Amino acid sequence: MSDLPNNPALPPAPAVNIVLIGFMGSGKSSIGRILATKLGFQLLDTDALVVEAAGMQITEIFAQKGEGAFRDYESRTLEFLRDRRASRAVIATGGGIVTQPRNVPLLHELGFVVLLSASEEVIYERVSRNRARPLLHTENPRETVTQLLASRAPLYDATADFTVDTTYKTHTQAADAIIAEACKRYGCS
Ligand code: S3P
Repeated sequence: MSDLPNNPALPPAPAVNIVLIGFMGSGKSSIGRILATKLGFQLLDTDALVVEAAGMQITEIFAQKGEGAFRDYESRTLEFLRDRRASRAVIATGGGIVTQPRNVPLLHELGFVVLLSASEEVIYERVSRNRARPLLHTENPRETVTQLLASRAPLYDATADFTVDTTYKTHTQAADAIIAEACKRYGCS
């Protein structure tokens, strides 16, 4: 009996979800979008799912309920994706997802955990372009970025299966590097 022909509608893709972690401004949403398009995967975004579940914007959740409530929504979102057995998905996460130890095993259950990193200068330049990030509503956002990056760097490194430095890469180059590594580790069909 001959093998079933490959479905020409589906591009070659690894048999694993790709979970993007990294600091604000590291390119998770933009690179996630390109990855999803290239692989024919759905793009899921924990920030967007939290906004949907809470019925309010992230800045409002922080202002009205506090960061702890936001972190609870985030963890419940990961549990929801795990329970739903999300597959053929690129999952972009919020920059603080690694700060909650309970999230780390959930991230690994969800798929291949890829850290997007970038130099501090590039991160600051990117995050300065929008005001939607409550943690940077401080007197000195530049210093806040420095402090948050320093405290989170070891958490990102400890959580990642693989890291792509996006500082000198286009989004497409970063996406291609992730696909190549995922195919190497998990095979692509
Ligand atoms: C946060 C990052 C944001 C969002 C929230 C908190 C963080 O997501 O989850 O503002 O703690 O770093 P992005 O990384 O997508 O900006």
